[in-house]
Amino acid sequence: MTTNTEKTNRGNTNSKSTAGMTVLVTGATGRVGRRVVESAEAAGLTVRAASRHGAVRFDWADRSTWADALRGADAAHLAYLPDVGAPGAAEAVGAFARLAVELGVGRLTLLSARGEHQAHATEQAVRESGARWTVVRASWFAQNLSEGPLLEEMRGGELVFPAGEVLEPFIDTRDIGDVVVAALTGGDRFADRILDITGPRLLSFRQAVAEVSAAAGREITYAPVSAREYGAALQEFGVPVEEAEFLVGMFETNLDGRNAMLSAGVREVLGREPRDFADFAAEQADAGTWKS
Ligand SMILES: NC(=O)c1ccc[n+]([C@@H]2O[C@H](COP(=O)([O-])OP(=O)(O)OC[C@H]3O[C@@H](n4cnc5c(N)ncnc54)[C@H](OP(=O)(O)O)[C@@H]3O)[C@@H](O)[C@H]2O)c1
Repeated sequence: MTTNTEKTNRGNTNSKSTAGMTVLVTGATGRVGRRVVESAEAAGLTVRAASRHGAVRFDWADRSTWADALRGADAAHLAYLPDVGAPGAAEAVGAFARLAVELGVGRLTLLSARGEHQAHATEQAVRESGARWTVVRASWFAQNLSEGPLLEEMRGGELVFPAGEVLEPFIDTRDIGDVVVAALTGGDRFADRILDITGPRLLSFRQAVAEVSAAAGREITYAPVSAREYGAALQEFGVPVEEAEFLVGMFETNLDGRNAMLSAGVREVLGREPRDFADFAAEQADAGTWKS
């Protein structure tokens, strides 16, 4: 398990270039951030785990929290919430990245989304910040089905989602964590590059839910709806209109089949195959994640 406290590593067996490196991880308690923290600690880095409620307080919406989170770090991993392509993301991430450079934090990774044209301005803002950067463009997370807002529906036995029968190369967020840390510790190798990373297998959401259902030993079904219907439901549940409309636009583009192909990114960066969805499903089923 990880902690939210900054830790100084002792007995670190890491290479000279990364030994003692302090990395600020934003979104550190999230589906990806937790795994970045775990991978960074396993690599012997000193981790500063930041979020609104974390030990290191950091809020994208409150610029007064930014400098203290950055000061003294060597590198930072950026995950913008609510979404890397959301309105205002490019401005906030750009300002944060420039502040990072000013404060001597010269190495940045940005978690971005594969096939999301709305995220390109955010990526560009990091690329123009003056830092050495790596943009990690990830496909849909396997952990979207085991953590966060979709988990309740999965436990309830039916996932209603606007993904039709599109094929998606679900990625395990542990692989994203490993890729981010490899980029941060890899010297020039992955600097100033966009890394396109996916899982090893294309699955429709219906197939993914069926694999979860089989692993969990209980019936869980998938009910596709249109993005518009989904957006209307989100608003009924209290999601602000602007955010719901952004999500509708994102689902309509991202889930139209443009991402229905595998990439070799994980293999190139980590020198091994990405984790398979079946392993994720089996592990989470064993842990009781989808018990009703
Ligand atoms: N879902 C996907 O399949 C997918 C695919 C590719 C890329 N992405 C990108 O991944 C990112 C989301 O990552 P995730 O799924 O790991 O997140 P997540 O599981 O939703 O967790 C959100 C994390 O960010 C923190 N947070 C929330 N609001 C914040 C704010 N205003 N300021 C600072 N921290 C805040 C949360 O902690 P606190 O509550 O303590 O602040 C938490 O640590 C987004 O940028 C999204 O565009 C998602």
